[in-house]
Amino acid sequence: MPATIVLGTQWGDEGKGKFTDLLSKEMSMVVRYQGGHNAGHTLVVDGETFALQLVPSGVLYDHIVPVIGNGVVVDPFVLLAEVDMLRRRGITTDELRVSGNAHLIMPYHQQLDALHERHLGKSKLGTTKRGIGPAYADKSMRLGVRMQDLLDESIFREKLRGTLTHTNKVLTRVFNRLPVDPDALADKVLSECLEPLAPYIADTTDLIHDALEADQHVLFEGAQATFLDLDHGTYPFVTSSNPTAGGACTGTGVGPRHLDRIIGVAKAYCTRVGAGPFPTELHDDYGNKMVDIGREYGTNTGRRRRAGWFDAVMLRHAVRLNSLTDIAVTKIDILDTFDTVKLCVAYEIDGERTEKLPYHQSEVHKAVPVYEEFPGWNTSLAACRSPKDLPSEARRFLEALEQQVGVPISLLSTGPGREEYLNLQS
Ligand code: GDP
Ligand code: IMO
Ligand code: MG
Repeated sequence: MPATIVLGTQWGDEGKGKFTDLLSKEMSMVVRYQGGHNAGHTLVVDGETFALQLVPSGVLYDHIVPVIGNGVVVDPFVLLAEVDMLRRRGITTDELRVSGNAHLIMPYHQQLDALHERHLGKSKLGTTKRGIGPAYADKSMRLGVRMQDLLDESIFREKLRGTLTHTNKVLTRVFNRLPVDPDALADKVLSECLEPLAPYIADTTDLIHDALEADQHVLFEGAQATFLDLDHGTYPFVTSSNPTAGGACTGTGVGPRHLDRIIGVAKAYCTRVGAGPFPTELHDDYGNKMVDIGREYGTNTGRRRRAGWFDAVMLRHAVRLNSLTDIAVTKIDILDTFDTVKLCVAYEIDGERTEKLPYHQSEVHKAVPVYEEFPGWNTSLAACRSPKDLPSEARRFLEALEQQVGVPISLLSTGPGREEYLNLQS
């Protein structure tokens, strides 16, 4: 049975959580494949808001098996707090499974993240300080501690001692900080996390394949986004994993042959939190209006997001990088009161027009957006439930966007609520 990916096409916070939740109705299993609790995915159901960081966004449905894949980095304390929050709100997590191969984020990873940022000073990346980079660095250095290690106390202690032999040198000699006592940390993690987490730890690759072989539909939920991808994003202003479609394969142990639909979620404009190039960024009233009306403050860290017009140059690149089959456009309603709306269709770099994202990042920094301008619709789209309900101005904007991007817009979100969307393919 086929599998579907829902992933971000811009710099995150496009509304992946909303569409993952929406599509979960038709799925059996929802799998997070990368990132960690740097993600903040918001679901609004019957007026109730859920902000999820680690647990997959399909969790609200009883029939869904939520899975945290091997590509995710997991802070066990955060995971337990999230499970607890869900349980208190009446959501069962009994079916949740976490890959034994997922790497653990430990408190020293978060300490290092903050220290690296401080060390960078003005050049800081603006990370979420959740320890994501240092945890993936340890994974690559073969110094990481995995979820399955928790199940064998002597191995867990041995691995912590091993990795801290290295990390304590960095903490004390590079950053002039106190060393971490591996046994005290092991005591804390084992006493607080082992018992509640053990039932969730599993061979998730096997589980996912069993589901696919049983003709069940599996959804892979991306965190972060295409231009925060470690390989394809605006490096070094990226996260430390692969949110692009390939990451769904390596982060779960499923080959690309199973994928039949790859949905790219895109806001009708763009936002970015943290540093890095952003060709269409606005520093004017339009930008402030996007932030104010769109409530563009991080779900996770509360930081103000930078905002700008929709960038079709980047989206065309995202279509290629991810083999997108279709896109889901969100937050179109935020543009309801704009007298005019713009699409960036090309860049001008040193006087030359290009329709492709330049491969050299210095050029991206110099890119001047070339816009197509459209009259606004000046009416609320909140009540629109079918394409014919859309005002002609909104339709024109979306047709141009679709034509620029080159794949169909299948879904259009007109508000945060689960029911606030249009299926444009029906
Ligand atoms: P994610 O990280 O991609 O899951 O996105 P976030 O949850 O971080 O940010 C998206 C925000 O926009 C959340 O607060 C959503 O509730 C909200 N949202 C999603 N779709 C829409 C929409 O179509 N209109 C409006 N007004 N809000 C939306
Ligand atoms: P969701 O899944 C938006 C950004 C950070 C920073 C960069 C690196 O909710 O879309 P990291 O902590 O990952 O090392 O930070 O990536 N970032 C996000 N921005 N949405 C996210 O997740 C993000 N996760 C990380 O702001 O610029
Ligand atoms: Mg988010």
